[in-house]
Amino acid sequence: MTAARPRHFLAVSDLSREELQALLTRAAQMKRLLRAGERPTLFRGRVLAMVFEKSSTRTRVSFEAGMAKLGGHAIFLSPRDTQLGRGEPIEDTARIVSRMADAIVLRTFGHDRIETFAAHSQVPVINALTDYQHPCQVLADIQTYLEHRGTISGRTVVWVGDGNNMCNSFIEAAERFDFTLRIAAPPGYEPDARLIESSGARVELLHDAHQAAHEADLIVTDVWASMGHEDERARRLEDFSGFQVNARVISAAKPDALVMHCLPAHRGEEISTEVLEGPASVVWDEAENRLHAQMALVEFLLEC
Ligand code: CP
Ligand code: NVA
Repeated sequence: MTAARPRHFLAVSDLSREELQALLTRAAQMKRLLRAGERPTLFRGRVLAMVFEKSSTRTRVSFEAGMAKLGGHAIFLSPRDTQLGRGEPIEDTARIVSRMADAIVLRTFGHDRIETFAAHSQVPVINALTDYQHPCQVLADIQTYLEHRGTISGRTVVWVGDGNNMCNSFIEAAERFDFTLRIAAPPGYEPDARLIESSGARVELLHDAHQAAHEADLIVTDVWASMGHEDERARRLEDFSGFQVNARVISAAKPDALVMHCLPAHRGEEISTEVLEGPASVVWDEAENRLHAQMALVEFLLEC
């Protein structure tokens, strides 16, 4: 008898619209109870293994803190300390860790790596960022929009900057959450073309940040050089000039538009200090909501 395959969360599109809506409702409940100091032992006896091949502050702390607060345990595994870092195949790591843990979080480079890992795992695998997608962050971002402005359905979201992993996850979210996405990226830094094609009319690609921001409900940006692209930093600083989210860009948006950034931010590069610290910015709520959205996600996957 073959065991049922576990559900994974490698991309926003791995969950249906209904599942995503239910997850956000649960994330809001999770926030209320955790903020009220309640500590239900939802994950008693459950172990979350966390394999990180890239640096992290928010993702690591949110998963670890959440598991501890809800009665479970998280094990952080860096390539410096594991055999993965010494060349043990990722397939073997997946087979072994998934015989011991109840779910696994993986942050890595190529998306093919997490797909291989998931294919060999007996338990749910959660994408904690790959070069291609960062779906956990988008869950927290949609939760944040909902808290501040209500449903994101029918709204206009504007992405300014690199067509990177975050941007790709926003493209998938546009379909699932039914919003329009306008992307302003410099030529050569557009997001995945296949994703744009499959998203249909919901996604529009431009090359001018101010023009893209016209009447926006939400403006989102991210670093110009993601992890793994550090050696391109000097060139990217030149190529992205004109793609900073600043007072001029947000002046084109609706007066109550919000500004998001997954963080860490480089003030004075992709976003001005004035905007990051200003009244439209909800970046600290986004960061906190990683905890709540991800605990709702872990609960959902463990119950599947
Ligand atoms: N936004 C985000 O994923 O942050 P970390 O890299 O600190 O986890
Ligand atoms: N696009 C960024 C996100 C960091 C959370 C990166 O991949 O480095």
